[in-house]
Amino acid sequence: MRRSLLLCCLLGACLLLGKRAHAQEDVADEDDEYADSLQALLVVHKQCLGPTGTSSGPSPYPVVVQGKNVTVEAILYNGGTSTAMDVTYEDVLPKNAELVEGTLQATFPRIAMGSSARHSYVVRFTSGNGKQVMYLPQASIAYISDTESTTQTGRSSKAGIFVLTPLQQLQEWAVTMGRYATLTLVRTAEDWTKLCVCVCVCVCVCVCVCVCVCVCVCVCVCVCVCVCDVVR
Ligand SMILES: *[C@@H]1O[C@H](CO)[C@@H](O)[C@H](O)[C@H]1NC(C)=O
Repeated sequence: MRRSLLLCCLLGACLLLGKRAHAQEDVADEDDEYADSLQALLVVHKQCLGPTGTSSGPSPYPVVVQGKNVTVEAILYNGGTSTAMDVTYEDVLPKNAELVEGTLQATFPRIAMGSSARHSYVVRFTSGNGKQVMYLPQASIAYISDTESTTQTGRSSKAGIFVLTPLQQLQEWAVTMGRYATLTLVRTAEDWTKLCVCVCVCVCVCVCVCVCVCVCVCVCVCVCVCVCDVVR
């Protein structure tokens, strides 16, 4: 009887100890999970740098001109909690652009957390469409995000731009100059059209009035001369 009681106690103690050890393992597991959650997270912002201009009216996007060199820059920012390793960047050209300088691909051995890397290249647009915003295609990235060598992929932001043809740029300049010349009374191409119509109408009216006056004077002179002749 006593022996069996002792056995029971021992068994109980073993069970308890085992459970405790198990619990400690759980804690250790949670630590591991926490370690796993240290991950790099790359955010890629793509943008067009100069030479850029301003468009008439409010424009949230840069304005570039067809045929001119335009620098496209990507900023890869690591907003995660670990270093990004073996980062590859691969970009795509829009249909209406050609590569002038640099490469569409780039690699970075590592980008530390909280820091960023940049890659840029120069393109030239072969056609313009100044009236509509155009979006550059998204670049893709791949990198190793943690110590487990998990490969992460992602895409850049889209960059919106306006691409003007040289003629559209001339119009923009004319409008800008006109805006200053007329003390900002005339702001847009539509305003210019209105101004032109006004000026034309004024000129026509002036010419008409002049012609009328001339005819009147002629008639008067003629009448005078005739009357004088008759009197004589
Ligand atoms: C455009 O870039 C190319 C390559 O760098 C250069 O040779 C050319 O002179 C540039 N053109 C202009 C207008 O800056």
